[in-house]
Amino acid sequence: MTHVSPPGGGPAVTDYTPLPSFPAGFHWGTSTSAYQIEGAPSEDGKGVSIWDTFVRRPGAVRDDQTGDVACDHYHRSAEDVALMAELGVNAYRFSVAWTRIQPDGEGPANPAGLAYYERLVDSLLEKGITPFPTLFHWDLPQALEDRDGWLDRDTAYRFAEYAALLADRLADRVEHWITLNEPFIHLAYGYAFGIHAPGRALMTDAIPVAHHQLLAHGLAVSALRAAGARKVMIANNCTPVWPASRAPEDIKAAEAYDTLHNRLFNDPILLGTYPDLSAYGTGPDLNGTVRDGDLATIAAPLDGLGINYYNPTRVAAPGPEHGLPFQDLPIEGVPRTAFDWPVVPDGLREVLIGLADRYGAALPPIYITENGTSVDDKLVAGRVADPDRIAYLDGHIRALSEAMAAGVDVRGYLTWTLLDNFEWAEGFHQRFGLVHVDHQTQTRTPKDSYYWLRDRLSELAAEH
Ligand code: FCB
Repeated sequence: MTHVSPPGGGPAVTDYTPLPSFPAGFHWGTSTSAYQIEGAPSEDGKGVSIWDTFVRRPGAVRDDQTGDVACDHYHRSAEDVALMAELGVNAYRFSVAWTRIQPDGEGPANPAGLAYYERLVDSLLEKGITPFPTLFHWDLPQALEDRDGWLDRDTAYRFAEYAALLADRLADRVEHWITLNEPFIHLAYGYAFGIHAPGRALMTDAIPVAHHQLLAHGLAVSALRAAGARKVMIANNCTPVWPASRAPEDIKAAEAYDTLHNRLFNDPILLGTYPDLSAYGTGPDLNGTVRDGDLATIAAPLDGLGINYYNPTRVAAPGPEHGLPFQDLPIEGVPRTAFDWPVVPDGLREVLIGLADRYGAALPPIYITENGTSVDDKLVAGRVADPDRIAYLDGHIRALSEAMAAGVDVRGYLTWTLLDNFEWAEGFHQRFGLVHVDHQTQTRTPKDSYYWLRDRLSELAAEH
């Protein structure tokens, strides 16, 4: 450890050891999503999304909080882009609210919605920040949910049309495009367990939602390319799965969980096949959901794979009460986030090496599209001291570097997240930001971790 005060202002942060080197041109950035930060739910012609609806269901979100204002980013984009420029990142992943572009999920584009994202993109490019738009981060137009949402095959076609509208306008300037965010979490939380929008608790009957999201991804890849998009990818949530013991039942349960969480969304995209889902009572055509040609569409070549990593999952054989072929067990003996998620930086290395082993030459370059931690941050006399977040970032960036040294081709690390925001069913109770947001006044205060990252990025940049 060396003792160095941060150059260029900000509070003296912490002792640190310089980070390992990263290749020139590596993308360093922050990641956000529309519903979690934008607010302005009905401004400039925006339509209603499933999150606008879900948050009004009593008890759906902690303390019945909503994203109606969120970080008011819709009106404060310039300030937030300036914060990123000061941080020294060269990449920014944000999501586009489908209902700003097509209020009802179909039909012509709403000019004001396109103009908003165009201004955002242009302001990023002006500061040398590469935009990484995600087209779908869980905020489906309510009009499509009214027609059965992702249970309806037609939603996939609507998504591809929406993707084309955006790319027609922006592909001349936007190089990197991300189709969907974490289709697994949307399937599980939104449609199987009902704890996220649209709040449907269908358990294994939700499986068609997986296929229709994947089909949407595949159709969007070709729509985006037809409109001139140069690099297209998807952001999948991945977790190392640890069996609770070497007992065959626990290993079988771990395989079943790995199939659902990791393989269900990576195999079709990278290999053009579904994994064996028989543990979920599901046949190879997902019980009649898959049509001829779908898998070829889904497996269209990609230019990258986005990986969102938070923690490993420990799994054991289920008891009779579980209703699924596994049960989750806590991971003991490691630090925990404010969300109670275990902190295991080496799990990032494990995920990346595991992907390279499993998919070999079929694995495109990887971008870490999310990784970060919630901390019970306190703003005291204008400063937020968040050593736990600094340790989290430092540990994960080192684990990433180890995976790269072992041969995994990783092109970027975009941390979750820039601003304390609306964390879905937890409302404003989880703070993941590098920048503290006072949700009453909207005052932004960079935390110590922001200054820490700024200084590490400036050291890394100085190497090239
Ligand atoms: C991911 C989501 C993101 C955020 C983080 C904490 O699963 O993609 O929106 O909620 O978790």
